[in-house]
Amino acid sequence: MSKKIRLMPSGKEVAVAEGDTVLSALERHGYFLPNNCRAGACGECKTKVCGGEFDQGFILDMALSKADRENGHGLMCMAKPTSEVLEIEWETENNLPKLFPPQENVSHIVTEKRMVTGNIVKLRLRSIAKPIRFWPGQYVTLGNNNDIPARPYSIANIPNSDGEIILYITKMESGTTSVWAHDTLSLGDRVTLNGPYGTFIGDAAADTPVLCLASGSGLAPITSLASAALLRGGFRNKASVLFSARTKEDLFENGLFSFLDAKFRNFKYNYTLTREDNPGGLTGRIPDILDKVYPDLSGHSLYIAGSPEFVDACVAKAKRLGAKDELIHCEGFHAQQS
Ligand code: FES
Repeated sequence: MSKKIRLMPSGKEVAVAEGDTVLSALERHGYFLPNNCRAGACGECKTKVCGGEFDQGFILDMALSKADRENGHGLMCMAKPTSEVLEIEWETENNLPKLFPPQENVSHIVTEKRMVTGNIVKLRLRSIAKPIRFWPGQYVTLGNNNDIPARPYSIANIPNSDGEIILYITKMESGTTSVWAHDTLSLGDRVTLNGPYGTFIGDAAADTPVLCLASGSGLAPITSLASAALLRGGFRNKASVLFSARTKEDLFENGLFSFLDAKFRNFKYNYTLTREDNPGGLTGRIPDILDKVYPDLSGHSLYIAGSPEFVDACVAKAKRLGAKDELIHCEGFHAQQS
């Protein structure tokens, strides 16, 4: 009997191969389910089962309480479907993954602080409380729960069990929070995060070609989205990231993207410089050169992140090249990142 997992409420179906757990079947089809131990011990992959039967396998009681079991939850890293169809709660009505409830005032310690360009600082933050669970592409707000107002910054890393969050923060001279992050914050300081927020998530399991466009610290959510999708089986069609920087000094995450480019045949990373020559490479603003690199965007899923002006100009150009509204995902809240 061939088995399948049905994702509710969208009704999308995923085939289950012999021996698959629910988690491994989902991942082979590009669906990312948060997980940690993959051995029934941490509870991270807990999911509500709406219909059908499954063998839960050996798991620890502390990872799935009696109440959870009675409410129909299971641990998908160990669960194997035993009925022809297993229905699990997966998405909201509009096909977004089920979002995690935001947490408030979660204390983190600054474990790394490093300038990656002339005006973008990288902060690596480690939770001293329960880690914030998030989907790639989402953002948190950063402040100190005192005199520094909380401002939104996209998470640049992929979800992990250590509760680490990486942020890239552009210094805005007139803004309290970004100036504090650049000039005052030190290693070992305590900061406060709220979140996750945002719906810049899209569908990593979509089988359309994917094009991600970013400028400045807009590369942060694109880094999280693209690495999560590629490393976990998503972006099954062709996928590319095109990054816009003023000069070579303004490039960052080049190492990670070069790695992804080398490892995944379907993935291409490229950049364009807007204020410097780029021998053998691209120069000019993305909206001005997009048609030369991607003349036909009909059928593409687009992820665009950067300043509101950058996002608007890219969306307008992409639409002229055939991109469809429903496949364009944007993140342009940089105006609030003071
Ligand atoms: S990933 Fe830890 S219980 Fe499933």
